[in-house]
Parts: sequence; C-alpha cells; structure tokens
Amino acid sequence: MTDPGKQSLQVVLVLLCVCQLTSGLKCACPLCTNHTCETAPDGACWNSVMLIDGKEETVKSCLSPSEMKGQVFCYSSKNVSKRNCCFTDFCNNETLHLHSERPSEEPGWSGLQLTVVILVPCCLLCLGVLLGVCLVQGHHCAYGRAHKQDPEEPLDDQMLMSPDKCLKELIYDMSTSGSGSGLPLLVQRTIARTIVLQETIGKGRFGEVWRGKWRGEDVAVKIFSSRDERSWFREAEIYQTIMLRHENILGFIAADNKDNGSWTQLWLVSEYHEHGSLYDYLNRYTVSVEGMVVLALSIASGLAHLHMEIIGTQGKPAIAHRDLKSKNVLVKKNGMAAIADLGLAVKHNSSTNTIDIPFNHRVGTKRYMAPEILDESINLNNFESFKRADIYSLGLVFWELARRCSVRGLHEDFQLPYYDMVPSDPSIEDMKKVVCDQKLRPSIPNQWQSCEALRVMGKLMRECWYANSAARLTALRVKKTVSQLSETKDVKD
Ligand SMILES: Nc1ncnc2c1ncn2[C@@H]1O[C@H](COP(=O)(O)OP(=O)(O)O)[C@@H](O)[C@H]1O
Ligand SMILES: [Mg+2]
Repeated sequence: MTDPGKQSLQVVLVLLCVCQLTSGLKCACPLCTNHTCETAPDGACWNSVMLIDGKEETVKSCLSPSEMKGQVFCYSSKNVSKRNCCFTDFCNNETLHLHSERPSEEPGWSGLQLTVVILVPCCLLCLGVLLGVCLVQGHHCAYGRAHKQDPEEPLDDQMLMSPDKCLKELIYDMSTSGSGSGLPLLVQRTIARTIVLQETIGKGRFGEVWRGKWRGEDVAVKIFSSRDERSWFREAEIYQTIMLRHENILGFIAADNKDNGSWTQLWLVSEYHEHGSLYDYLNRYTVSVEGMVVLALSIASGLAHLHMEIIGTQGKPAIAHRDLKSKNVLVKKNGMAAIADLGLAVKHNSSTNTIDIPFNHRVGTKRYMAPEILDESINLNNFESFKRADIYSLGLVFWELARRCSVRGLHEDFQLPYYDMVPSDPSIEDMKKVVCDQKLRPSIPNQWQSCEALRVMGKLMRECWYANSAARLTALRVKKTVSQLSETKDVKD
C-alpha cells in the first residue's frame, strides 16, 4: 500500500477506535464465562503468545484502562513473546504465532480494512464530536496510544522529568495525578536506564535482586531472565494495579524490558530497604514488644489493604498474595514492614466474579501452604479461598516474629515454621502429613502467657491456622486486634 493510502487507513482506524473507546469492548477470553469478557470504557482487547517450555501459549483477555496506563504490556520483545492490544470488539480473536517474521499486524489490518469499509459512514458522524472532546480534555487518544507502542521510539525524558526531581517527588506527582496506578512508561524507562547497579542483595526464584543507585538514591532492582518474562510481566502488572500504593506494600517505581540484541533484560525497580527481608532481620536481631507490635500491625495493614476491594473509579480490586512468608516481607528503616514479591498474586473482578489467575502456574512456598492447598481441597472459584490461605501464612509469619520478641531478656532462636516437624526442603507430602493428616501447628511457648502482647499474638495465630478456612480471622480483624494491642500498657512501657 502507498504511504498516503496507509496514512488515510490509519486515520480511519483511529476514528474507529475513538468511537469504540466511548463504551466497553467485548473481547475473546477462553477462560471467562461464555468465552467473552468486557472491558471498562477505555480498555482494550489483549492477545498474546509466549514460548513456554518450547510450546506456544496464547492468552486472550480484557485489559483494563489502568493496565493500559502502564503500557509496558502492549510491547513485544522479540522471540519470547508477541503481544497485541487492540480496540475493536473481538479484535483479539485471531491466533498469534511466534515464528512469523513480520509482527501480526498484516493479517489484522486486512481484516480491519473490511470493517473500515462498512463502518466508516457511521463513524464519521460521531467522529467530529468525539475528537473535539478528546482534544479538549487532553486525553491520550487512540492514535497516541498506537504510536507509543513502538518500543524503539526515542525517549523524550526531558519533557517528562526535570533533572532535579527525586524519586519521592516523582512518586508523589504520580499519586496525585489521578491515575493512581504508576509512573508513565517513558518515565519508568528513563529511570530504569539511568540506574547504576551496585551489589546483589538477594536471590529468589527469579534471577537476582540488586541494590542500584538512581541520582544518588538507593533503589532495588529485581532482574528476571528472559525465560521468566511472564513472571516479570505479571509482577509489574500487579504493582501497577490502580490504588495499590500503601506504606506497607513495597513501593513500585518502574518496569523495563531492554532488548540488547541477543536477549531481553527484564527489570522491576522498587524502593530499597536496607534491612532486607523480615527473615534476614529476625535471623540477625531480636525485637522489643513494641517493635513486634509495629511489625505485626504493619504486615496486617498491608495484607488488609491488598485483600480489600475499594469500589469506585479510584477503587482497587481485592488481591490475594499467595506467597506470604518472612522472606517476602521487607523491614523498613522506621521499623514497619512492607509486603513484597507480588509475582504470584491474583486479582478478583467482583463485577464478573472472576479471578485473573496469573499466566504462570507457580504456586506458593510449600512450608507456608495452607492445608486446603496441600490437599488440593481449595475451591479455586471462590476468591475468599485465596484470602483465607494468605491468613494461614500470616499466622506462620507472626509465629516467626513473636519467637524473636525479647521480654526480660527471654526470647526464642529464629526458626522457620514446622522446623521441628519436616525436613529442611519439605515436599508437599512432608507438609501434608504434618499439617493435614496429623493436624499439627507450630508450638506456642508457655512463657508467652506471661506477656499480654505475646498472649494475644499466640491467640491470633491459632485463629489464623484453623483447618476450616472459613473460621479463620480476616486480615482486617487481625489488623484491628493488633492495633488495640498497641494501645495496651505493657507495649507502651
Ligand atoms: N526492595 C528491596 N529492598 C531490599 N531487599 C530486597 C528488596 N526486594 C527484594 N529484596 C531481597 O531479595 C529477596 C528476593 O526478592 P523477591 O522479590 O522475594 O524475589 P523472588 O520473587 O525471586 O522471591 C528478598 O527476600 C529480599 O531479601
Ligand atoms: Mg520472594
């Protein structure tokens, strides 16, 4: 097609998209009821294919406006995955493949050409009005969005960031700008690409975590290998959930996928906490009663925020963590905790009562798995199940914490839950035998009865560990009980 021809087709497509953006889109979604999902008014249909263990796996679903804001997700990195966000009903119905040389635009365009011929007259009518509204309100219109999808576009960071802005200011700007979901993509990339890595600080399931410097400030960089692109993608997506930001959830800064020609570097940048994980901290130090209560209250507050659904345009979906453990909780300088490692989290869509199960099938850490996960009796169709399993794990984290609480010089050594009942790298079978069959739980030391805060913590743990998940406390209840504890006399003394 000639250039002017292509341009006019682009313009018409843009007009079509503008029309579509006024209402929700219907998209193909094999995992949803009736194989269909519906987006919010300016969402998009999502179509992707990824190479997993040598097999192509496709995902078709709806993308919310908040996910679109992150826009990282509309990109493809060569060889590993191909992604496509599109803006007409069921436009994601085609099957993507990885081997084709050209991106999947060509077949998609010819299909759309047909639609264009039919729909142009209708759309021309509403076009003028809508474009006017779009321009006046300064919204990113569909053309802008399509344009931004070119990952090789030069970064115009001067426009977006003044050189003297520090991270706190940028994050403050972002949280007051109304989106509540994350920094604009170009700012994220600019930050990520000007970080100087300093030293490794952690190793988890996926690659390494580094301390890095950005404009003199410490940041944490989690580096995924290109093999784990799905995990990187998922974690970045969860962190950019609208209104997720909370003082007890690790502060997300940026996600970046940099193609260096032979492989893709996948970075997640977050606030750096020099004390590291709660696991490292409790191994090294004991805590006072007050210190324990501050940590317990902040973990419960972070989890309650994660679990809570907030309704409204500035709301957030309920989220379950699914891998809560002392290694995934960080200790901040002010003595509070921040919940980290959201790579396994699931979001609840209450309007359709669906769960967006992550693309990867990684499950939590065996030692911290609730009995219903170990024996597979968990009802995966009920979102409450995931929250209740988190509460069980929370009880175990509280147990690790309370053991290190030093009262009159007395405290326990650091131990992982069930350290005295299962081998060091327990299998599901090992855990099942202890937790489900013998119904054992970590032991509560007798001396906890002589300190009010430890006595309450012990009672709380037991109420998080019930075999009957419905009987367990909620995160909000745990938070309230611990917060009452912080008012009691022996904590203040
Ligand atoms: N923001 C951070 N500040 C300080 N240490 C961190 C930070 N993020 C991660 N770590 C360290 O790296 C470890 C692994 O990080 P995590 O996000 O849990 O990765 P994984 O998904 O590989 O388990 C943590 O247990 C912690 O010790
Ligand atoms: Mg982890």
